[in-house]
Amino acid sequence: MHILSIDTSCDETSVAITKGRKVIANVIYSQILLHKKWGGVVPSIAKRAHEEKIDIVVSEALKKSRIYDLGSNIDFIAVTQGPGLAVALEVGIKKAKELAEKYNKKLIAVNHLEGHIYSCFVQNSQGNPKTEFKFPYLALLVSGGHTELVIFKDNLQYEVIGETIDDAAGEALDKSAKMLNLGYPGGPVIERLATEVDNKDFYNFPRPMLRSNDLNFSFSGLKTSFYYFLKKTDSVEERNGKTESVNRLASSFQEAVFDTLIKKTEKAIQQTKINRLVIGGGVIANLRLRKLLRSLIKKYKGGILFPPFKYLTGDNAAMIGVVAYYKAKKGQFVNNNDSLDRIPRMKL
Ligand code: KG4
Ligand code: ZN
Repeated sequence: MHILSIDTSCDETSVAITKGRKVIANVIYSQILLHKKWGGVVPSIAKRAHEEKIDIVVSEALKKSRIYDLGSNIDFIAVTQGPGLAVALEVGIKKAKELAEKYNKKLIAVNHLEGHIYSCFVQNSQGNPKTEFKFPYLALLVSGGHTELVIFKDNLQYEVIGETIDDAAGEALDKSAKMLNLGYPGGPVIERLATEVDNKDFYNFPRPMLRSNDLNFSFSGLKTSFYYFLKKTDSVEERNGKTESVNRLASSFQEAVFDTLIKKTEKAIQQTKINRLVIGGGVIANLRLRKLLRSLIKKYKGGILFPPFKYLTGDNAAMIGVVAYYKAKKGQFVNNNDSLDRIPRMKL
């Protein structure tokens, strides 16, 4: 079964061809350079860039997979329905409908967050890694738009047990980077600066919600206290000349975010008694966070799965295609293509 999948949920135009869990081709056109100078994703620019690139990305994915005849070699078309940026999601959905109609294929609608969970089980074209499913898992999603703890009960079955009540972890990192004039996206820059001071925590910024017993996250208080801390200390211009101090700030902020993620995940392990973790989303590209999670799970004698290839941490259509495969096996197709619409705040 070959699936052509599309993800245009935010600032990456991606199309993949998958067969079961195997990725035959995955093409990602990233818009980061277009948004960089604005310090974040600009919806109108994202929409236009998706529209300009989508056809090229579709044909490139087909070409890479050596599928020259979509009509006879692709079985289903899958597309991200949400969550994400409305005007961006729309572009992918429109293209998916168009292809489904033209080639008379059934459509499969996928939740982007399911994709990030399944990213840990995606295989290369050779079928590696051969990770088998051992349900249930405790899933932690950490991206620019989401921070969620989910019980991944079985294929396509989820129970959200914790989520952020304000900013997402990646968003918090991006905002702190912006305050430090480090550009967009901030996560990777913060990571690099933090390693230069060995990921030490110099300032012990607040970790909101840690004392509460629920599994929800909150990062806006941390962001605000960081803001006032910066205001009260040197001006940003002055600080930019002092690499050491920027590194210390970046590292301390990152530690505050990661400490919160680790402590809440630990609470979730204790409450659910599940010690097998799957972690997805852009922030898990961060090696410091991976290390902290590995030591956490060692304490509970469990196992942990990360997306096996770097491109799977960020947004990509391959993970959408893999979810779609399980949906196809269960006959979960879109009933009426015309009425398929984006759901920007789609939940798991
Ligand atoms: O999953 P993703 O590509 O898009 C969303 O669905 O949101 O995640 C993007 C987020 C951004 O906030 C970015 O700063 C963060 O992932 N990110 C990182 C790293 N690479 C990307 N955060 C920390 N360390 C990184 N190395
Ligand atoms: Zn994402």
